[in-house]
Amino acid sequence: MVVNVPVLPKRPGSGKLAMDPAIRAEFPMLRRLVHDMPMVYLDSASTSLKPRSVLEAIRFYHEEITANVHRSTHPLGEAATLHYEGARGCVAQFLGGRPDELVFVRNTTEAINLVAMGLGLKEEDEILITPLEHHSNQLPWLTRARVVYLPLDAAGLPDEELLEGLITPRTRLLAVSLLSNITGARGHMKTWREVASRHGIPLLLDASQAAGHMGIDVATLGCDFLAFSGHKVCGPTGIGALWARRERLEKMAPTLLGGGMVHTSRLDGYSLKEPPWCFEAGTPNVEGALGLAAALEFLSSLGMDEVAEHSLALGRRLKEGLAPLARLRLLAPGAGDRYGIASFTVDVPGLSAEAFGRLMADSYGILLSAGRHCTHPYHDMLGLEATVRASTHVYTTSDEVEVFLAATRQLVG
Ligand SMILES: Cc1ncc(COP(=O)(O)O)c(C=O)c1O
Repeated sequence: MVVNVPVLPKRPGSGKLAMDPAIRAEFPMLRRLVHDMPMVYLDSASTSLKPRSVLEAIRFYHEEITANVHRSTHPLGEAATLHYEGARGCVAQFLGGRPDELVFVRNTTEAINLVAMGLGLKEEDEILITPLEHHSNQLPWLTRARVVYLPLDAAGLPDEELLEGLITPRTRLLAVSLLSNITGARGHMKTWREVASRHGIPLLLDASQAAGHMGIDVATLGCDFLAFSGHKVCGPTGIGALWARRERLEKMAPTLLGGGMVHTSRLDGYSLKEPPWCFEAGTPNVEGALGLAAALEFLSSLGMDEVAEHSLALGRRLKEGLAPLARLRLLAPGAGDRYGIASFTVDVPGLSAEAFGRLMADSYGILLSAGRHCTHPYHDMLGLEATVRASTHVYTTSDEVEVFLAATRQLVG
């Protein structure tokens, strides 16, 4: 481990992850009040809170290194390169991949765009996705190829049984979120993996939500590309990663050109560096990379199995608490493995999703998300204007979920 930041010791699985006050104490933002009320932060699917070790990693870079990477020969430049490449190793290890398969990007959106631009797609090529995808896993395809959507089943979830039948000779990629940002449901990866491998079609996983809630292993998932954002895994904003199987990365064309990604440049041309460096044009977000590595170290120190167990337990409780309320409609109530995310509409005249969210913040200090959560097509298909979403993370306690459920019952019960 190269990144010099404090890490939490490995702890045995207690099944009571966020009940451990030591974990919450690591998150300075949890001391924040909202209108003089204790903050109940249930908007982690938008962005997560950051532990001290992440803040410390960013401080460390600015106070003790502050040099560019892969450019300077002085000691600080060498330290910056060492820490930056160490962070790459750390992120790759978290995903079960190799450092030379890991490209640092700004976020999931940029990672998916990088693939969409790098594959050399033609208008007649087909990309198979689901109607639940975040815009970041829809728009990059829509503008470059023909997007084919997997139909939904009666429960409002993608009907994976129909996947195989949608494959044609023109299918160039299957692209799906590992964990939906709207239902909290995990996709049936076995089906996606098997269909992709049977037809020799690459599989891209949007792990934007998943990476902070479950252990990820790219080999087990059988994917070719995987994208996620630092800010949803307790890391900084402005940093994320694209993991791509080495042979896929080697076939992709870099789309951003400039400093740092070429071996040599002449008056009439240039020669590229090897992947992953040829995909990182310009000065990268060095402090972000260090912060991201610190975040993944933090999550790993909790144990990703335990992180997943905690998220599933909160997801179950959200469902149990919300589903019986008559004037509330929970999305995809039939979803199996529901991680700590639940979205719903409220059936109270004059109370829009946005007004509900505002009321919860102003009256109870409960922070939720209200709107369409960058899943407009899914909302359109269900005929919904907007939904409210409650989303959790490792620092969320079951008590906070109970506070939210009690407040919801007061408003719509
Ligand atoms: C499933 C999913 N994919 C992609 C994104 C886009 O992430 P970012 O805005 O960090 O690029 C999000 C963000 O909410 C998401 O939930």
